[in-house]
Amino acid sequence: MTTAETAPPPSMRLRELVFGAACAAALRAAARLGVADALGDGPMAVEDLAAAVKTEPQPLRRLLRALSCYGIFAEQQDGTFAHTDMSRLLREDDPHSLRYITLWCTEPWTWDAWPKLDEAVRTGRNVVEDLYGKEFFEYLNEDAPESAVVFNRAMTTSSMQSARDVAQFLDLLGSSSLADIGGGQGHVLASLLEKYPSVQGALLDLPRVVENADPRLRPGGALADRVRIVPGDCRVAVPVRADVYIIKNILEWDDDSTARTLRNVIEAGGPGARVVVIENLVDDTPSMRFSTAMDLLLLLNVGGAKHTRDSMVRRLTDAGLVIDDVRQVNPYLHAFDCTVPG
Ligand SMILES: C[S@@+](CC[C@H](N)C(=O)[O-])C[C@H]1O[C@@H](n2cnc3c(N)ncnc32)[C@H](O)[C@@H]1O
Repeated sequence: MTTAETAPPPSMRLRELVFGAACAAALRAAARLGVADALGDGPMAVEDLAAAVKTEPQPLRRLLRALSCYGIFAEQQDGTFAHTDMSRLLREDDPHSLRYITLWCTEPWTWDAWPKLDEAVRTGRNVVEDLYGKEFFEYLNEDAPESAVVFNRAMTTSSMQSARDVAQFLDLLGSSSLADIGGGQGHVLASLLEKYPSVQGALLDLPRVVENADPRLRPGGALADRVRIVPGDCRVAVPVRADVYIIKNILEWDDDSTARTLRNVIEAGGPGARVVVIENLVDDTPSMRFSTAMDLLLLLNVGGAKHTRDSMVRRLTDAGLVIDDVRQVNPYLHAFDCTVPG
């Protein structure tokens, strides 16, 4: 029986770490094959699982054994495999599913980009433009439609999980309009509009993203008469006037894009507008391993970074915002509540 092991000696630990790609690839394979979805509540024989997910039994056993070493699936005494708390998160129907996050973090472009990390560290620049000849989100939406779908689903998963927390956290009493800048498919916006029935909303994101906005926001949806969907590039313009702007998990790209976005929001909102920037901070996180990995991936794709509290404060004040408050939204998100000065 294979179990999750603890604390091997340094020479073995390093050997394990350099094979990190094998673990990521095994997770990706399991997610793509739908192994977690096919495995029921009780243990299953590999032959039955293989028939369900249409693979050869022996390679599937090897895949499951590799994942079991990390506590993802568990091999039983009789050679069958059962779910663990982690493997259940690979199921698409799990309420806390990480299936699309798993796929997103291991998409084909990541395997092109990681080997160029030394180059990115040397130059401080993204490597995607050299690899694909265009900016990351352009590449994603124009040339990698399958990855774009995975990205939007992954963002939807994490937005839905954080939308409730943001809606609970943010007090919009006294405000009549709200714009979510780079709001993805609009789950955070929809949650807030449901909580505040007299508030009007606007969702700004790239055209191919808002095309698939949350059905509640689209024509015919329950919130449609209170929402304007604005396809656009927030670095070019923010053509939306609102009392409150939310900018969540956007200011992680290069500094020029951050400065341009903030300038456009400040111009659009005018004096007195409230700007709430919500981010994961690298200096106050439940997992430094996860946050620093995301930080490096952001360097590779958009030449960006996960921020510390100080580096976020610096960018917001440099843009001309007054920071009224910095508070924790949930264990992994912080809100910087700012005002555009008069
Ligand atoms: C990490 S996601 C965050 C989405 C959403 N705010 C959330 O927290 O769930 C980044 C979003 O920025 C959008 N985005 C990227 N470049 C953009 C641009 N130039 N203008 C507007 N939105 C952009 C992406 O399409 C994506 O929806």
